[in-house]
Amino acid sequence: MNEQILITGGRVVDLTGERRADVRVIDGRVADVAPSLDPTDADEVLTADGCVVSPGFVDLHTHLREPGREEAETIETGSRAAALGGYTCVVAMPNTDPTQDSVSVVEFVRRQGEAAGLCDVRPSGSITIGRLGEQLSPLGELSAAGVHLFTDDGDGVQDPLLMRRALEYAADLGVVLAQHCEVKRLTEGAVMHEGRCCSTFGLPGWPSVAEELMVFRDIELVRLTGAPVHILHLSTARSVELVRMAKADGLPVTAEATPHHISLTDELLAGYSALYKVNPPLRTMADVEAVRAGLSDGTIDAIATDHAPHAAETKEQPLDQAPPGMLGLETALGVSLAHLDMPLADVVAALSWKPAAIAGVADQHGRPIASGEPANLTVFDPNEAWEVQPAKLASKSRNTPYVGVPLEGRVRHTLLHGTPTVIQGDATR
Ligand code: DOR
Repeated sequence: MNEQILITGGRVVDLTGERRADVRVIDGRVADVAPSLDPTDADEVLTADGCVVSPGFVDLHTHLREPGREEAETIETGSRAAALGGYTCVVAMPNTDPTQDSVSVVEFVRRQGEAAGLCDVRPSGSITIGRLGEQLSPLGELSAAGVHLFTDDGDGVQDPLLMRRALEYAADLGVVLAQHCEVKRLTEGAVMHEGRCCSTFGLPGWPSVAEELMVFRDIELVRLTGAPVHILHLSTARSVELVRMAKADGLPVTAEATPHHISLTDELLAGYSALYKVNPPLRTMADVEAVRAGLSDGTIDAIATDHAPHAAETKEQPLDQAPPGMLGLETALGVSLAHLDMPLADVVAALSWKPAAIAGVADQHGRPIASGEPANLTVFDPNEAWEVQPAKLASKSRNTPYVGVPLEGRVRHTLLHGTPTVIQGDATR
């Protein structure tokens, strides 16, 4: 078909550096990168004036809800939200119904992702069957079926012996275990961060130590087994410090932080709105600042959304009954650029090539923008100020905490294997 797309006027930012360049894409691959390219033969010219052209974003942490909770999101609507957020690849979390603990379920998720064609959907597998924390999932079979990241997200693996065995198994298979760090015994009934605010609001608290104990335990299990661990949605200052020390010791520990943990605090629960209920909970400003500092100095490798759509009727329930979680895919870039004081290239690294490496997709995503490379690309205006219009969200759910909140940086175009999934801020399909 020889389809040719030209991206003109942008500043290319990738893991090799930054430069002013036009980018020509032919048949799904980057064909040419040069200061000025002739548009004559292009089938489509995408303008990128004032924009950054970067490798597509990779989300390590997306809840797509299908199978099982299609009223909240489907793989198609979630993939569209991802594309609009500049993502070319998402890791689909396993807390579906049925759980992603068998080859048939992960194959279903992968096929639905391919059918939607908006984003590369990589299913994670659960570490334990049904995410019940009792029996290991068939990690070998799932790994043979292409699963690279395993997690019981939504819950942490409580049993240290089971986690040790999972790590030993993972080391043999060359896969990564990602932990939702929460000691359940310490968070029963909790709806928000335990601290001054929860006492004032009279709400049961989720103490920071419930996260930190498991961060510490898993770091020590990494030291014992040599297997890598990725720490999901890290949220406390002490957790950041523990990861910093683990990295200083040379341990294969990676970590992510969400846009909400770098932008929102527990004070927002003052109005008792479940929009701000999330797991782990919004913490204090000191924690927010520590998480931002962790991203700045590279202790935290990646920004991951924890995109967690929930149908309106569930989020409208009282705080203790409403499920935790907030949307993330369409606002991650705008929140990150508005709240992080770090070089733009480092923000892009945390959104693209660093998570690509952790997800095991670095052969396709987060690649240098150079001739012959797969054209998974994001074009965004880093300076565009905007606000969320809920009615325009592609997600099936509306549980975003960012309505009326100024955001900075907006996706203009996204290309998946050379095909535009977003043009001028609109999804193409
Ligand atoms: O807030 C959250 N929501 N945290 C999780 O770990 C799970 C997620 C969900 O699935 O809704």
